[in-house]
Amino acid sequence: MKAIDIRNKYLKFFESHGHTVIPSAPVIPENDPSVLFTTAGMHPLVPYLLGEKHPAGTRLTDYQKCIRTVDIDEVGDNRHLTYFEMLGNWSLGDYFKEESIAMSYEFLTKELGISADKLSVTCFAGDDDAPRDEVSYECWKKAGIPEERIYFFGKDDNWWIAGEEGPCGPDTEMFYDTGKPKCSENCNPSCGCGKYVEIWNNVFMEYCKGKDGKITKLQQRNVDTGLGLERMAMLLQGVETPFEIELFAPVMKKLESLQKQDFIQSRRIVAEHLRSSMMMINDGGRPSNVDRGYILRRLLRRMTRHLNKLEIDLAKLPEIIDTSIEALKEMYPELEKNRETIKSVIIEEKDKFMKTLEKGEKEFEKVVTKLKQENKIKLEAETVFNLYETYGFPPEMTQELALEAAMKVDMEGFDKLFQEHQEKSRLGSEAKFKGGLASTGEMEVKYHTATHLLNAALKVILGDHVHQKGSNITSERMRFDFAHPAKMTNEEKQQVEDLVNEWIQAGLAVTAQEMPKEDALKTGAECMFIEKYPDVVTVYSIGEVSKELCGGPHVKNTSELGHFKIKKEEASSSGVRRIKAILEN
Ligand code: SER
Repeated sequence: MKAIDIRNKYLKFFESHGHTVIPSAPVIPENDPSVLFTTAGMHPLVPYLLGEKHPAGTRLTDYQKCIRTVDIDEVGDNRHLTYFEMLGNWSLGDYFKEESIAMSYEFLTKELGISADKLSVTCFAGDDDAPRDEVSYECWKKAGIPEERIYFFGKDDNWWIAGEEGPCGPDTEMFYDTGKPKCSENCNPSCGCGKYVEIWNNVFMEYCKGKDGKITKLQQRNVDTGLGLERMAMLLQGVETPFEIELFAPVMKKLESLQKQDFIQSRRIVAEHLRSSMMMINDGGRPSNVDRGYILRRLLRRMTRHLNKLEIDLAKLPEIIDTSIEALKEMYPELEKNRETIKSVIIEEKDKFMKTLEKGEKEFEKVVTKLKQENKIKLEAETVFNLYETYGFPPEMTQELALEAAMKVDMEGFDKLFQEHQEKSRLGSEAKFKGGLASTGEMEVKYHTATHLLNAALKVILGDHVHQKGSNITSERMRFDFAHPAKMTNEEKQQVEDLVNEWIQAGLAVTAQEMPKEDALKTGAECMFIEKYPDVVTVYSIGEVSKELCGGPHVKNTSELGHFKIKKEEASSSGVRRIKAILEN
C-alpha cells in the first residue's frame, strides 16, 4: 500500500467515525518562538487539549507534517528520519480509552489488513502520578489481543509529554512483529532490538504537568494518537527501510545513477535531508545562522557534503530536486507549486557552502597533515573553534571529517569555548541593552516592575500554566503576552487587577540577588527562555509574591507604582493571550 493510500484510508476511517478532517499545520509553528518545529500532531492542538473549544468539534483527525531534529546525526542508518508525517486522531473531552482502542484495532486489522497475530501492545504500569492502566488492558483483550501480548511498562515507555510541561498522560502503544527472532529470552516490545516496531501511540491525556513538575488533572479527558506514516508504509510494503518506499525510492535510484562512489548511507542522507529541507522551505524556512535557519543550513550543508562524497556533479542538483518533488507531489502538491523557490533557496545555499567548504577543508587537511607528522591523533578544541570562527567551517563537519581521518576531536572542549564565545557576545549586547536602559524613563522602570506583578497575579488567579510569552513596554503602557487557553472572564480580569493593586499598596520591597543559574532555577524563579541566560543570573524578588530572572532595572518598592489598570485582554496567537495595562497616578 502506498503512503498516500494509507493516509487517505486513515482520514476516511476516522471521518466515518465522526471526526472532522483538519489541515496540517506548517512544520514551522506559527506564532510560537518557544519551539523550533512542529514535532507531533498534538502540537498545534495544545490549547484545545487544555480546554479551549476547537471550532471543528471534539473529534478531529489530520495528517501532520513533523520535524524532529534530535536524531539528525543518526540519519543515514536504516530507520531515522528528520521529517516524517504523523497521522492522528483526537478526542477533545469526547471518547476515551475504550472507543479509541477499538477504533485503532479495527483500523489496523480491517482497513490495513494487518494480521492480529502480528500485533503486541503496551500499557502504563502505574506509579504515584497515575494508576496502572487496567482499563486499556481490558479494552485490548476485548478487542482481540491475547493476554501474553499485552505488556505493562513504566513512565519511560508508556507516558507521553511534549517536552517538559503541558498536557500529558499514560499511553498505550501498538507494535508490529517483524517476525525476526527474539534477541533474548526476555525480548519484548520495549527492548528496541528491531523485532518489534512501534506503529501507533494512543495517549490518554487527562493530566497536565506544571512548571513545578506537579501533575494535575486536566478539566477534560482527551485522546491524542500518532501513527508514523513512512514506517507504516515500509511495513506494509514489506521493505526493510523507509528509503525503499515510493517517497524515497526514485531519488535513491537517481542518486545511484549519478554517483561515482557507492555509499548507501550518503544516498540516504541526501534523500532524507533534501526532503526535510524542501518541507521547511515550503513552509517559509530559510537558511541562517540561528535556530530554525541553522538547522535548515545544517541539513543542506550535510546533504551537499554527501553529494560530494558520492562524487555527484553538483550541477545535477536541480534534477535531483525535481525527482524528489515528483515522488512527493501527490502527497504535497504545494511542493510543485513552490518548486522554483525551493530550488533557488537550495542552490544558493549549496553555492555558498561550497565556497566555505573549499576553504575549510583545505585548512582541515593542513591541520591534520601537521598533526600526523607530529604523531598526534587528536584535534584540540581550539583548532575546531578556529576552523569555525575563521573559516565558517561547521563543527559537526570537522567532527565527521576527523572520524573519517581516524582522528579524535575534543568536542566537549569546543562546546565550552563556543559557550564562552556566546557569553562574550551576549555580554556585549547586554552592555548595549543596559546603555539603552540608562536613558529609560521612570515610567518604563515602573512598568517593568508592574510586569512582574502581573505575571505573578495571573498565575495565582488563572493557574500555574500561565507562562510569559512576550512583553513590550513604552512610557505609556505595558503589554504582556502569556500562555493561557481561554479568553479571560470579566471576573478574572477584575481579580487580577485587584491582586496587583493589593501588592502595590502593601509596599513590597523589590530586591535583586546574583546567583548561579542552577540555584536560581531551584528557587523556582520565573524565566522565559532559560538557555538564553548566562551562568550567573540576577533574580529579582518582590516581597514573597514574585521571583524572576531579570536584568532590571526596577523600582525599589511597589508603593512607587500608582494604580494598576487592565485596559484590554485579547488573543495574541493560538493559546496565547495579550493584556494591555496602564499605571495611573
Ligand atoms: N503525541 C504522541 C506522539 O507523538 C501521540 O500522537 O507519539
